[in-house]
Amino acid sequence: MGTQESVVQGSALLDKLRRGVVGLDVHYTLATGERTRRIYLDSTASTLRLKVVQDVLDKFQPYYSNTHSVLHFGAKLSTAEYRWAHEMVLSFVRANPEIYTAFFVGSGTTAGINRVARTLREKRPNRDVVITSVMEHHSNDLPHRKHFRHVVHVPVAMATRSFGCVDLRRLEEALREHSKRVNYVAITGVSNVTGIINPVHEVAELAHRHGALIVVDAAQMAAHLPVQVSGHGNPTQDIDALVFSGHKIYAPGSPGVVVTRKELFAGLEPQEVGGGMVDQVALNRYTISKHFPDREEAGTPNICGAIGLGAALYALSKVGMDVVAEEEGKLIDCAIGKLGTVQDIIIYGETDCSQCQRTGAISFNLKNLDHALTAAALNDYFNIAVRNECFCAHPYVREMVTQSLTDEADGLSDEELANQAELHRGMVRSSFGIYNTMEDVDALAAALRHISANKDFYQAQYTRLSNGDYEHKVFKFDHTKVFSVKGEVDALLAM
Ligand SMILES: Cc1ncc(COP(=O)(O)O)c(C=O)c1O
Repeated sequence: MGTQESVVQGSALLDKLRRGVVGLDVHYTLATGERTRRIYLDSTASTLRLKVVQDVLDKFQPYYSNTHSVLHFGAKLSTAEYRWAHEMVLSFVRANPEIYTAFFVGSGTTAGINRVARTLREKRPNRDVVITSVMEHHSNDLPHRKHFRHVVHVPVAMATRSFGCVDLRRLEEALREHSKRVNYVAITGVSNVTGIINPVHEVAELAHRHGALIVVDAAQMAAHLPVQVSGHGNPTQDIDALVFSGHKIYAPGSPGVVVTRKELFAGLEPQEVGGGMVDQVALNRYTISKHFPDREEAGTPNICGAIGLGAALYALSKVGMDVVAEEEGKLIDCAIGKLGTVQDIIIYGETDCSQCQRTGAISFNLKNLDHALTAAALNDYFNIAVRNECFCAHPYVREMVTQSLTDEADGLSDEELANQAELHRGMVRSSFGIYNTMEDVDALAAALRHISANKDFYQAQYTRLSNGDYEHKVFKFDHTKVFSVKGEVDALLAM
């Protein structure tokens, strides 16, 4: 935690950033005919873009140049700023640049985790087991299944009333059982379904004690909590590789990021080869650069995306991620309290925040209402943007839903239970970013209260489609009336 003065300065800067967010004042016309400001509660999928990021990118555009060009002015500027973005990543996640490198990959975390999985399989071929948890996003599960012989899914522990974070006792049992075969433990910092925070440094300590590495999926952590990769008093708590997505940290359009110990990637041929990462190429041989991060970034990178991300991380580090975490913690506590008072709501995962910390997301259902209908009504009648379904975390969502049905089973007939299971084969997720306010939480709670009290009305307004989505019987949204690339180009060229 910073000094009192730095916290006050950080809070003032945070207010400034909040006031400048692209897309916060978007208005849409609703099924009621009203035109209102959209409330964005889908930051777990992608955050909105900070205006600082947009302005920096606009200013950069005239100087844009390929970073593989070297000697002209634009190339010098672009190359230096692109390098700075890497330095900014390492500083943001507090990774020692002597030991760690940061490189950009694909469009998000998925590309980064695939790269880490393939590389570590090659680096430690005798270790053919990966341990992960049941609460992972598919992107931190399927790459390990694809590249390793055996993947163990550790369950989550029961907290006070419901599921909490990963079960450390079961994790240690799995590490002991597979002993010298475990390559790494891959764990999410924060669940994208419940926002529950995992104790990643305790997991690191356990993994290292058993000779395994630790890979952290920080897709939902980086924008909400301070991250410290290295420099712990107890070095076994340091993280070996950490991956996150630029589009989830206020810089949509920016790439995925891998932060890793250089030694884990050194001495291997990088998974992707091409221009920009070789020292010499003849027709019968080529030598790959030893220099990080160049050797991991074949081809022309997403330069604008990286620079936008560097701007976002720099702005957030000026605020202080401890300040961000503190403010968001208050919002989540308040949201859980207020949503908990809505009639017929089921909030998934442990809701006692003193027992089980959360950040970023809260997923729920309304009893006797399909998750997709709740989400459609929130959008069409209240201009509240949320996500529904299983959030690419099918096993975890299924486990949560099954547990809540078991809790309710006593009062329900078999038919009612089957109906509830069908309606709740997914959930509704509200998720938050620095720009969300207590007023947004109040609006969500009020909307849910209305939907819950008028289920028959909302049900009657929609037709359920064969894919499970809900279509309003009368109200139609034509996006081209709001925006289309073709329409914009036509209008600009007609000027
Ligand atoms: C926890 C978690 N991991 C990984 C991902 C995948 O990220 P991306 O879609 O940026 O590749 C997500 C996306 O929602 C996520 O929430």
